[in-house]
Amino acid sequence: MTSTSTFDPQQMQTTSGDAAFGQTDDLPPHDVTDLGLADEGVRRIEWAEREMPVLRLIRERFEREQPLAGIRIAACLHVTTETANLMRTLKAGGAEVSLAASNPLSTKDDVAAALVAAYGISTYARRGEDRDTYYAHLNAVADVHPHMTMDDGCDLVSLLHKERPDQLTEVLAGTEETTTGVIRLKAMSNDGALRFPVVAVNEAKTKHLFDNRYGTGQSTVDGIVRATNILLAGRRVVVAGYGWVGRGIASRFSGMGSHVAVVEVDPVAAIEALMDGYQVLTAPQAAAWGQVFVTATGNLNVFRREHFGVMNDGAILANSGHFDAELELKALAEMAEGRIREVRQNVQEYVLADGRRIHVVAEGRLVNLGAAEGHPAAVMDMSFAAQALSAEFAIKSHATLTPGVHTLPADVDTEIARLKLAALGIVLEDMTSEQKRYVASWQEGT
Ligand SMILES: NC(=O)c1ccc[n+]([C@@H]2O[C@H](COP(=O)([O-])OP(=O)(O)OC[C@H]3O[C@@H](n4cnc5c(N)ncnc54)[C@H](O)[C@@H]3O)[C@@H](O)[C@H]2O)c1
Repeated sequence: MTSTSTFDPQQMQTTSGDAAFGQTDDLPPHDVTDLGLADEGVRRIEWAEREMPVLRLIRERFEREQPLAGIRIAACLHVTTETANLMRTLKAGGAEVSLAASNPLSTKDDVAAALVAAYGISTYARRGEDRDTYYAHLNAVADVHPHMTMDDGCDLVSLLHKERPDQLTEVLAGTEETTTGVIRLKAMSNDGALRFPVVAVNEAKTKHLFDNRYGTGQSTVDGIVRATNILLAGRRVVVAGYGWVGRGIASRFSGMGSHVAVVEVDPVAAIEALMDGYQVLTAPQAAAWGQVFVTATGNLNVFRREHFGVMNDGAILANSGHFDAELELKALAEMAEGRIREVRQNVQEYVLADGRRIHVVAEGRLVNLGAAEGHPAAVMDMSFAAQALSAEFAIKSHATLTPGVHTLPADVDTEIARLKLAALGIVLEDMTSEQKRYVASWQEGT
């Protein structure tokens, strides 16, 4: 992917709506769709905040301790209500934050407006932005000369390394939110290309065990239902990829009464799917069997031309993996020979030569963000607590962290879980001293 340099900072300041809060002149640099949506955005950000008690506690501590004082953070994340609460937390910790969207379809325009007009956070995000604007926005946050990057998918780190190598020495550390980004960073690190330390937030247990599984599971079902309004009970659903995301999606569809089949390339994951009660099929078998197809592999062209050729009339395709590369939409468009139309909001119908109709939700981009609101706030509470604490950890320890991919220390992970339980009013059982001695000893036997 290449970036563009057509971005005009003057144009970026212009918005199509009126500011709902304060004077436009006082606002930080931004490019959002309509500042007039800020009021609605604030209401929804505050609603999400009620479900994010751990992040709120961290924000209160950050306000007192200022662990990020003077740090310029460039973030490339989905512009949602939950992200807005993370941005507020980082700002409370003393950071100067600039945010760009990590996906053209996941931006909530009211949230982007509120970030600028109500919270004074520089934001560059317009829902549906084209590729040039996407990269113009990434360049705009890179222009602040960040001390820290915060990525979801590694596009910002990639941009700095490929096109702004002079800035690399200014970056103390970064954080990365998702599986696909961590894979890209590890590849960079293995090639000796990664020039600063990055904390892989995704590897925190309090992130992937909950966000990838329960968050994506529920919100993927939500996105498909919002877009299509189909009945899930009795429906044949194919899930490609049985990692953390796929497990969550399969279990949520199953819970709604769907028949679920899994497509996998990893033998261990395939056995797990089988023993969890799902059929395991090859992609061609699944193509002929399924009615709804959801990809969550982080891989390329999982369903492609040969599969579209045997799919049932009315098949619904969606993707929950990071990039819109999991469905070979170019081939589908060629097969439809121009017979493509939007039949509902977020649903495109492709009519094949023999009259079969194949439906694609949210243009094959992350369906849970493109057609719904992403993960529920209660789950992002933990993921973004891990983000905020990773930022603090990375800034505190950057001098001792080597360039490469790092994990959040285990005690921080445990602390996030402890705070979440406490916020839910759940008290944990404690081991007796006899039990502590027993589990620490090698002398006790049968
Ligand atoms: N939608 C969201 O909000 C959201 C949230 C978290 C992660 N993600 C993204 O979802 C994707 C999956 O994440 P994960 O944490 O489950 O990763 P994971 O590595 O745990 O699982 C991916 C699985 O896909 C399988 N796979 C790879 N190629 C395949 C193919 N061609 N056919 C079938 N299976 C294949 C792998 O064997 C693996 O089991 C990533 O791109 C990640 O960034 C999306």
